[in-house]
Amino acid sequence: MTSLPLPPGQLGLPLIGETPSFLLDPRFAAKRQRRYGNFFKTHILGSPTVVFIGPEGCEFLLSSHMQHFAWKGGWPQNFQELLGESLFLQDGETHRRNRRLMMPAFHGKALEGYFSTMMNLAEQYQQDWAQQDELTVFPAMKQFTFEVASVLLVGSPPGAPIDQLSQWFTDLTNGLFAPPLRWRWLPYGRALRARDRLLTYIEEMIQTRQANPTQDVLGLLLQTEDEAGNRLSQEEIKVQTLLMLFAGHETTTSLLTSLMMMLGQHPAVLQQAREEQDALAATGTLTLDQLKQMPYLDQVLKETERLYPPVGGGFRQVIKPFEFKGYRVPAGWLALYRINETNRAAYAAPDRFDPDRFSPGRAEHRPSDYSLVSFGGGPRVCLGLAFAKMEMKIFAALLLRRYTWRLAANQDLSMKPIPTLRPASGLKLSLARR
Ligand code: HEM
Repeated sequence: MTSLPLPPGQLGLPLIGETPSFLLDPRFAAKRQRRYGNFFKTHILGSPTVVFIGPEGCEFLLSSHMQHFAWKGGWPQNFQELLGESLFLQDGETHRRNRRLMMPAFHGKALEGYFSTMMNLAEQYQQDWAQQDELTVFPAMKQFTFEVASVLLVGSPPGAPIDQLSQWFTDLTNGLFAPPLRWRWLPYGRALRARDRLLTYIEEMIQTRQANPTQDVLGLLLQTEDEAGNRLSQEEIKVQTLLMLFAGHETTTSLLTSLMMMLGQHPAVLQQAREEQDALAATGTLTLDQLKQMPYLDQVLKETERLYPPVGGGFRQVIKPFEFKGYRVPAGWLALYRINETNRAAYAAPDRFDPDRFSPGRAEHRPSDYSLVSFGGGPRVCLGLAFAKMEMKIFAALLLRRYTWRLAANQDLSMKPIPTLRPASGLKLSLARR
């Protein structure tokens, strides 16, 4: 294997490598893909890095050869310090044990129990938004998804300081890609302070839960035990909860904002999605059962997810050298799988918004489980996938049934990828009752 060449690509300038273009140029990976193909090297965030694009590479990294890669050393140092010893940064047996303990809170009966809270909050927020002349969707949506996460994950009571908590999360998120300078007035210093305040809040919630057990995710985590009698310690629950709150609301905000933008720009799709909802609404109010009868909305959400993945890619550390496509990659490098470009690699006219590509007749995604990777894939696929899909479907179904919206003219809708994908303007529109 050592006689094989390294993958094609450039390592850039001494020390900084190609980091500035990686952080500033949204077409960083696409440009290199055109030059070198679906597997190339670069040097970013202080390390030589190999980039995987496309279903075959993603399957290799996420599943068939996942033992060559670790999550822990893969994420930049800022992530490690800000998100602590949580699932995102764990591997092997520790990760398996913790994921097994957390899983029940995101599936089956527990998930069904979240339906009415999600629906009530969606109704409330949409009503409020319709009172405003003009709405900037991204920050407004962030309040909504944060309140859902905060009530369902942590059990925050009504009247909890949602605005304050959400602001701390914004500070935390802004620190993820900031220079790691710890002064309080700089983004990274603010992020560290926000993390400490959030952990203190979660600790207080844990103490309340211990006195009064509840059915939110935090309540379930405190009660859960696996067959071997393992439990998560209080310290573990604190950081896992911080991670879930973090992972669970910016991402959903991003996708729902893109969904409103796509529906606002594609009247024929909007009409078909609305007809589906009107037919269901004629049989009664939204129920869990109705959520399973919306094939067209499923297609629209999938197509939005394909074109506008909230997270552009995922990092790993190479812990065992490997060979792929006739190239070798040494241990110690970073590996990055690109979601944005993979979601375009296996589709006809990939830049076109075309929900019908997911219709049963076409099913363009079918040849590989790794042709749509917005939620990752393999054994470590997003833990909150079903939670996020249910929340997005409830929100979209209610919106289509009750409201129309018009995008404001003259706004900058170019997409900013960091920290999560969003239109530069935040998406300005006005919402009115139908
Ligand atoms: C639209 C919404 C969401 C998107 C697009 C999304 C995306 C992702 C992606 C791409 C990964 C894998 C990262 C990698 O392979 O490096 C991931 C993992 C994860 N997500 Fe999500 N996510 C969403 C919502 C949520 C929600 C609602 C939660 C929790 C409430 C959540 C919790 C997690 C956790 C804990 C992991 C790590 C899983 C593990 O390491 O085993 N996510 N997510």
